[in-house]
Amino acid sequence: MSDDIVLDIQNVTKEFPGVTALNDVSIQIKRGEIHGLCGENGAGKSTLMKILSGVYPYGTYNGRVLYNGTELRLAHSSIRQATDLGIAIVHQELTLVPSMTVGENVYLGKEPTERGTINWNQVYADTREILQRYKLDVSARAVVQDLGVGKMQMVEIAKALSENAQVLILDEPTSALTEAEINKLMEILGILKAHGVTCIYITHKLKEFFRITDNVTVLRDGEKVITLPTSELTEERLVNYMVGRQMKERFPKGNRQPGEIMFQVRDLHAVDPHNSERSVVNGASFALRRGEILGIAGLMGSGRTELVTTIFGEYGKVTQGEITLEGKPIVVHSARDAIRHGISLVPEDRKKQGLVLIKSILENISLPNLNQFARFFSLDKDSELDASMKQAKNLAIKAPNLQMQCNLLSGGNQQKVVIAKWLMSRPKVLIMDDPTRGVDVGAKYEIYKLMNELAEQGVSIIMISSELEEVLGMSDSIMVMHEGRSNGTLAVAEATQEKIMALATNIA
Ligand SMILES: Nc1ncnc2c1ncn2[C@@H]1O[C@H](COP(=O)(O)OP(=O)(O)OP(=O)(O)O)[C@@H](O)[C@H]1O
Ligand SMILES: [Mg+2]
Repeated sequence: MSDDIVLDIQNVTKEFPGVTALNDVSIQIKRGEIHGLCGENGAGKSTLMKILSGVYPYGTYNGRVLYNGTELRLAHSSIRQATDLGIAIVHQELTLVPSMTVGENVYLGKEPTERGTINWNQVYADTREILQRYKLDVSARAVVQDLGVGKMQMVEIAKALSENAQVLILDEPTSALTEAEINKLMEILGILKAHGVTCIYITHKLKEFFRITDNVTVLRDGEKVITLPTSELTEERLVNYMVGRQMKERFPKGNRQPGEIMFQVRDLHAVDPHNSERSVVNGASFALRRGEILGIAGLMGSGRTELVTTIFGEYGKVTQGEITLEGKPIVVHSARDAIRHGISLVPEDRKKQGLVLIKSILENISLPNLNQFARFFSLDKDSELDASMKQAKNLAIKAPNLQMQCNLLSGGNQQKVVIAKWLMSRPKVLIMDDPTRGVDVGAKYEIYKLMNELAEQGVSIIMISSELEEVLGMSDSIMVMHEGRSNGTLAVAEATQEKIMALATNIA
């Protein structure tokens, strides 16, 4: 074996009850390369990475993995073993402890000690140094739960980088990052590569493969389809390998005819419910027509999530402004109020707000929708099952059956369950906060189709998205936020990526 191969994955098979997550997969990863790993939701990407990082230790899979020429035999009960060997991973789902500071998280379990006590000054100094080295705009003493998802993800990356990794595994690192943060990450990866670090990079944003990877491996249904130099690939070929068929267009053509104004927000101001000094919405105005899709664009931290969670009654305390639904002013104090008015929200953070992970797919989908199935006080189990099956099928949720517990699903499939759940509630106004984050191209298309169908049936949709192409591909009009306020609204016909970015950064 040549010594420019750092990881030699040989015939790896991994079974879960009822699912073959990986089937006889062999991949060679070259030293110092950035190797892309690509495939639909449930293809087996995270499972393979969990084998490399010891989450699934030696003996729990078939086949073998050579690391620098010797077989990797990661033990049970020792997650640190892989990192000690130089294999670091940033997991798809955030693993930080929300109540601890950034510094505490970065040094969790390996705090520098001095005569038996933890040297906190050193923890914070070292953390600051790492954050500065990679130009991450986060305070070492900030409490993690106060950071947005994007910043949390940057902290996860910083944490992995603090390990002196030879191999760095990034499982969808950019799913919650804005363009600017993604650019920063790409820069960091360039620096690491120059230092000889090998990187395995998973993403559903296909463009990123073309920006930074040297080779890409495609997995489909647990099997390796192909490994190719990125220079020999096009986005179209990649998609074809992933889904195993031709896919012509990314955004389905809708036939939407937006009607009268349905929902309107005028000059909304709101403050942090725990700190009335801190304003979170600074003057947002928009009008949403019946059957219209309004995209909300803006940089991370521009107040998009704060705005929609305030409208939904979950977050900000409204201090000024007005919300009207079908011409009548409404007051929303809680999510319950919002749902009663016919407003639903697909939240940004599926783990925290969207899903009950220990419950089954079926229970999750039908939970908020039980009134649809209540017949004379008893639940109509069959129609519950039918309707849920239909949604699961539409979105191609990959699971042996609907009784499967949600924490066993792949990340993207969890997201599909959240969406299915809210699609079934048939709201008047459906707010979707980054609905396709972490969802593969095929399922994205299905979600877009469902959005079109709902809009055609008269549902008004608000969609936050960090992907400009998606905003442009799916919206009728686009509101751009900057520092907590609406900085302009563009009709899709006149909108361009440049115009949106100009409004988002407030640089004319
Ligand atoms: N602990 C588990 N128990 C049972 N099945 C599992 C478990 N973990 C993963 N699976 C199944 O294995 C398959 C592969 O999942 P994996 O998480 O590797 O997919 P993925 O390629 O990372 O997908 P995504 O893009 O959605 O993150 C899926 O069908 C998933 O439901
Ligand atoms: Mg995954």
